[in-house]
Amino acid sequence: MTESEYMAAEWLPPAWRELFEAAVAARRNAHAPYSGFAVGAALRTESGHVFAGCNVENASLGLTVCAERVAIWKAISEGDHAFEALAVASESGATPCGACRQVMSEFVEDMRILVADTTGRGWVTSLKALLPHPFSGISADQECCPQQ
Ligand code: THU
Repeated sequence: MTESEYMAAEWLPPAWRELFEAAVAARRNAHAPYSGFAVGAALRTESGHVFAGCNVENASLGLTVCAERVAIWKAISEGDHAFEALAVASESGATPCGACRQVMSEFVEDMRILVADTTGRGWVTSLKALLPHPFSGISADQECCPQQ
């Protein structure tokens, strides 16, 4: 499946549909009283496991965690690092934020990402397309201040 538009969830291939439905189900658990914007995410690993997450907001707004990162924390904390694909669902079909893209890049060079609204209309993209140049750390032999 390449980057495509879908009219509705029933047109998604079965593997994507399962991941999309897991994201939509997780979204129902969103704790989003401050933004009112509920998000669900579902991450499939090479083992076939699906880890789902929702956004969890806090009265101290900066402590909010996105749905994608909740799903990622669940996978990592279960010892499952081999990310294969991710689906994210929200009312507007929003793409993952930059912070979540960077967190994904910590664990996988690339993976396909379904970005969908809650009806299943959306598109498939990839981590590389969304974050072509992730920060990948400072190598030990890199000079700190080359200009000085
Ligand atoms: N949010 C996500 O869960 N994922 C994203 O990729 C972008 C934003 C959440 C965070 C916050 O709870 C709400 O959406 C509004 O920003």
